[in-house]
Amino acid sequence: MHIRLTSGKILDRMKDENLLQAFKRQGVYLVASCGGKGICGKCRIRIFRGEYHTASQGKLHAHDIESGVVLACQTFPESDISVDIPKESQLVLGDVLEISRTKDLLETFRSSGKTLSPLVKWVSLEVTPPTIDDNISDLERLKKSLEAICLKDMSFSHGFLSTMATELREARWKVHLGYIDGTEAVFLAPSASKDTYGLAVDIGTTTVVVYLVNLKDGSLVDVGSTYNSQIRYGDDVITRIMYATEAGGLKELQDTVVTDMNNLLMPMIERHAIAKKDIESVVISGNTTMTHLFWGLNPGFIREEPYTPTLNFFPVWKADSVGLKIGKQVPVYTVPCVASYVGGDIVAGVLASNMHKQSGITLFMDIGTNGEIVIGNNEWLVTAACSAGPCFEGSGIRHGMRATEGAVESITINPQTFTPSLSVIGNSTPIGICGSGMIDAITEMFLTGVIDQKGKFIRGLTTKRIRDGFEGPEFLVSSNEGKDIVLTEVDIENILRAKAAMYAGVSLLVKKVGLTLNDIEQIFIAGGFGNYLNIEKAIIIGMLPDVPREKFRFLGNTAIAGAYFCLLSEKMREEAEEVAGKMTNVELSVSRRFMDEYMSALFLPHTDIGQFPTVKKLLRNKD
Ligand code: FES
Repeated sequence: MHIRLTSGKILDRMKDENLLQAFKRQGVYLVASCGGKGICGKCRIRIFRGEYHTASQGKLHAHDIESGVVLACQTFPESDISVDIPKESQLVLGDVLEISRTKDLLETFRSSGKTLSPLVKWVSLEVTPPTIDDNISDLERLKKSLEAICLKDMSFSHGFLSTMATELREARWKVHLGYIDGTEAVFLAPSASKDTYGLAVDIGTTTVVVYLVNLKDGSLVDVGSTYNSQIRYGDDVITRIMYATEAGGLKELQDTVVTDMNNLLMPMIERHAIAKKDIESVVISGNTTMTHLFWGLNPGFIREEPYTPTLNFFPVWKADSVGLKIGKQVPVYTVPCVASYVGGDIVAGVLASNMHKQSGITLFMDIGTNGEIVIGNNEWLVTAACSAGPCFEGSGIRHGMRATEGAVESITINPQTFTPSLSVIGNSTPIGICGSGMIDAITEMFLTGVIDQKGKFIRGLTTKRIRDGFEGPEFLVSSNEGKDIVLTEVDIENILRAKAAMYAGVSLLVKKVGLTLNDIEQIFIAGGFGNYLNIEKAIIIGMLPDVPREKFRFLGNTAIAGAYFCLLSEKMREEAEEVAGKMTNVELSVSRRFMDEYMSALFLPHTDIGQFPTVKKLLRNKD
């Protein structure tokens, strides 16, 4: 049985496979936010020839069904079929994303006064060559040379020993030995390399970022970023965990993200003519689930009460244990995690923000696929995950998408005509709305009276933009060649839930530590989303606290910045361990008070408008 795509590609199909599975097996990827459960409606395709049956039509509209639109994850062909995959359903992975380099990272590192001290230290050794009268083993011989320079009790892995005999002889017994932690030998080289390199990697749920760094001077050589191809198994960590617990799933997810890293790395080292052997260490940071998946550790218990990860503090393991295409013995340091939903990305964020060194109180918010908060100073740190969900990344929103070309990123609405003016990434035809566009849209709809405080459409306005769609009421954001982009009442509900979770988390955590919002000296916003966030509008909808705007600062991607610092400095790695060790995690999901805070925050901006004095004033002036 064959599947013919409009691109001309012909795929086959195995027995019992649905179309989503058949596509994936043959390298054709669709947006599949719910991981193929028939819930998200993102994997729509159109079958225009051939027989098929569907297990479910989800929320597809009758006129779509009539024209052959189906959910790929719920559809089984019964003959050869011809399929059209619309642009918005296509998942283009492997694309190297344009990312802005975090500015002045090296400057920041230098100003911290820390010295360059990468993971691998090197010593020069002169080993006495063997003779017929002195033929003790090579290893005993090497140990004697190490003891002579006071390096005792070193351990030697099988990987190191398997090539040692040849390497010693090739170097005529004068070698450079690389070791980690003062206890384990990892490399032997005939001479010191002029330049050595390291990789700092941020494994995000949505994107993977790799920094190639010169370890001799700390300079950033190159940067690569791509979507985390695990997206094809679902958008959020929960669907990935569920997939990982199925047979073979964990290995598949591990291989997927390691392949992403290899695909980013190889062109970079080629471009700069760097030999693989000169890459000597790697640091990764990611949330707890991503870290478990990278190391092939069962993440299953992360999502089951009482929410325990396998481990938070990771030994330094080797690159070959996961299949990174660099030297087998290259040590990989993992930024430690705190709890099941507060990972190394947040610890790296704290390091990069330097909040753990300051006496004033800082609130750190990472608004990404999930939403984590840290509050504290140089004496204490308290953290929580808010379960905000990935809606700001486009998941669970009818025309939601990530902040890539074609995404509506900002919106204003004319208060008289209710006509939106859009700004679209890449100045192209809009194909969806990204997180910042959603926040803008909600703010504008609220301020122009299109929606009420509960996010419900106000009927009777003189506009045809509010209409009844097949999922209920919706607002027409744009219409282009018959393709409408709408925000439905269900979408608005999901966005309000996400913003309420963020605000409730902040509000509860501040109270838990016995402070008020006025006690917070600065608020740091991190995460890819933070790059595009309009603070004023995020305050108007009640997602961020209504405090003086000068307290807010964007930090960009702090997960990669923290990983970069750990790659360069032993002191930073020690600080990472300290930060992770002293952070107190508050489990919000089981807190009744969190539910109360959350319910109050579901309104625009909040049921207690007194918490938003500037928004109150704005609304009063508007009336
Ligand atoms: S409905 Fe098919 S992947 Fe979600």
